[in-house]
Amino acid sequence: MKYAISAATGRFGQLVIQDLRKIVDISDIVAIVRDVEKAQRVLPEDITIRQADYTDEAALQHALRGIDRLLFISSVPGGEVPRQQQHANVVQAAQKAGVGFVAYTSFAHADTAQSPLSKDHVATEQLLRDSGLKVSFLRNAWYLENELSYLQAAAQGQDAVYAAGRGKISFALEREYAEAAARVMTLVAPKAVYEFGGEPRTYADLAETLSALTGKSFTFKSVDDATYRAAMQAAGLGPELIGVLTAMQDMMRAGELDVTSTDLPDVLGRPLSTLPDALHEVLQAHAGA
Ligand SMILES: NC(=O)c1ccc[n+]([C@@H]2O[C@H](COP(=O)([O-])OP(=O)(O)OC[C@H]3O[C@@H](n4cnc5c(N)ncnc54)[C@H](OP(=O)(O)O)[C@@H]3O)[C@@H](O)[C@H]2O)c1
Repeated sequence: MKYAISAATGRFGQLVIQDLRKIVDISDIVAIVRDVEKAQRVLPEDITIRQADYTDEAALQHALRGIDRLLFISSVPGGEVPRQQQHANVVQAAQKAGVGFVAYTSFAHADTAQSPLSKDHVATEQLLRDSGLKVSFLRNAWYLENELSYLQAAAQGQDAVYAAGRGKISFALEREYAEAAARVMTLVAPKAVYEFGGEPRTYADLAETLSALTGKSFTFKSVDDATYRAAMQAAGLGPELIGVLTAMQDMMRAGELDVTSTDLPDVLGRPLSTLPDALHEVLQAHAGA
């Protein structure tokens, strides 16, 4: 059985490879990357590397030759070629190469999601459904690491504002999602959809746990979008980033990242890290950063 991971040089791909090689032989893993030099720097030296950019369908098809199972890691937004087009190239290449199974890193509740941030994932799931390929959607809710700026503010006793209100967010550690992806790649009968996430929490829950963990006194204050935007502007962020961050907060407030599913611990075969442990881990990993 040959396994491929695309966008393998990213943070997520690197973590998945570390886990997948514990389950299958490294000689059966192919890293599909757009930058071979980077791959040689950041990936294990005994892994097979094949070059293909998501913008190049022919190269992708060539890179996917003989692959039984592909972990299709979603591209990042903002490239010259729209992400939906990049993803369409991957789907077509996988079809033409006769890949037996594709696991795609998607978005929480991609069947009902409304947020603009979900758009590319909703479209890609549809392409994959229409392709006739055997697929699993790995709908990763939210990495706790995404909240690093809040965690670090709290650790320094600094106040912060958010606009997500009482919206619940299913935080889990990036490494937990990555390990789950590696495991799904090797399951005999993977499910069609995994809603991956941790126990849903509000920012107020985060603040309470952080306060107990750090012993610091600080306030995370819920504000409206306009006040949130003004605070981000005062912190020196540009309009584009403020737009993305505000859209994220709106999405959280609307409950789009509220996932009540045991898929993640079920696939991992163990409970997820507790919130205090996970917060401690992220803060330790970025201490001094
Ligand atoms: N659910 C969540 O909370 C959450 C959080 C973070 C990220 N994500 C999503 O997870 C996915 C992977 O994230 P990540 O953390 O691994 O991101 P990352 O560390 O920024 O890596 C992005 C990867 O995509 C590759 N890439 C970008 N454009 C490409 C193209 N045109 N062709 C081929 N490869 C291309 C990059 O290649 P190079 O190494 O050559 O640059 C890199 O391997 C992204 O879709 C991201 O939006 C989800």
